[in-house]
Amino acid sequence: MAADCLRGAETAPREPLGGCATADAHPNIALIKYWGKRDEQLVLPWTDSLSLTLDVFPTTTTVQVSPGARTDVVILNGVPAVGEPQQRVVSFLELVRDMAGREERAVVNTRNTVPTGAGLASSASGFAALAAAAAAAYGLGLDATALSRLARRGSGSAARSVFGGFALWHAGDSDLTSYAEPVPAAGLDPALVIALLDTGSKAVTSRAAMRHTVETSPLYRPWADSCGTDLAEMRAALGRGDLNTVGEIAERNALGMHATMLAARPAVRYLAPATLAVLDAVLRLRRDGIAAYATMDAGPNVKVLCHRQDAQRVAQVVRSIASRPVVVAHCGPGARLRTEAGRT
Ligand code: PMV
Repeated sequence: MAADCLRGAETAPREPLGGCATADAHPNIALIKYWGKRDEQLVLPWTDSLSLTLDVFPTTTTVQVSPGARTDVVILNGVPAVGEPQQRVVSFLELVRDMAGREERAVVNTRNTVPTGAGLASSASGFAALAAAAAAAYGLGLDATALSRLARRGSGSAARSVFGGFALWHAGDSDLTSYAEPVPAAGLDPALVIALLDTGSKAVTSRAAMRHTVETSPLYRPWADSCGTDLAEMRAALGRGDLNTVGEIAERNALGMHATMLAARPAVRYLAPATLAVLDAVLRLRRDGIAAYATMDAGPNVKVLCHRQDAQRVAQVVRSIASRPVVVAHCGPGARLRTEAGRT
């Protein structure tokens, strides 16, 4: 399993698959967060980030190039997408067509098993799967780095879901230098216990919230500066398989990110009373000698990092506090194209 986690993305077909391709990708949860862009159009972040790709909530996306069609059609979970979700996919296809020198429109059919827009990284799995399928359907033979750069243009965190296991997204300072790559983790094979406290769509998108935070929060710059130290220390901890230190850094980095939002003017607050109740439970678990560390994204849901052998105990405690569904995830694979026989 740990060896699996280190495997790179299996995404570049030797021959273009032609006009239709299907890809699967999984969400990732950042342990060092990406929060804030220096370039909105190219999706270049201010800081490096580091994540764990999960083995739950895959997205499956098929892109069928349709010569003669006048518009792109986007089907999201069986329903034609409209408004911003549709526009984001169409803009992404424009980018792929520009790269491929092609003009044909396409039908995109995507199934998300993660609740969309609830701070559970649906855009990461969504754009990683779309990037892999669209690149193959339009005949772009991209290597994993180029695919990560492409996925980044759809949603920053998608750059990391191209890879399985732990992935580091180098912020870079240009389109060419901003991409993710796998990070070795000395046999670490942790669990992530996800408390699904609220799976409704969030009121403020991460895109809008991070822009607002960068523009107005006096805590943004200090937090962004602290990410460099967090990353260096976490890489060292991953290298020696030290889950306690990885967890401590992940928790402080996430709380720091939420502090930047709380200090924004006006404040952005994703943390709910139930979030704080789970954070208290995590502290109690630690007092009882269980290595458990929390992280939260742009939503109230809490993900608790722990050893694989402690996952059921942690899940039980979290479930009893929150009375909400809890999912136990582990290290998952990178984005993968399906073969014509339907296998990945
Ligand atoms: O990729 P986006 O635009 O959905 O932003 C993701 C932001 C966080 O999930 C909060 C942090 C991260 O690094 O994934």
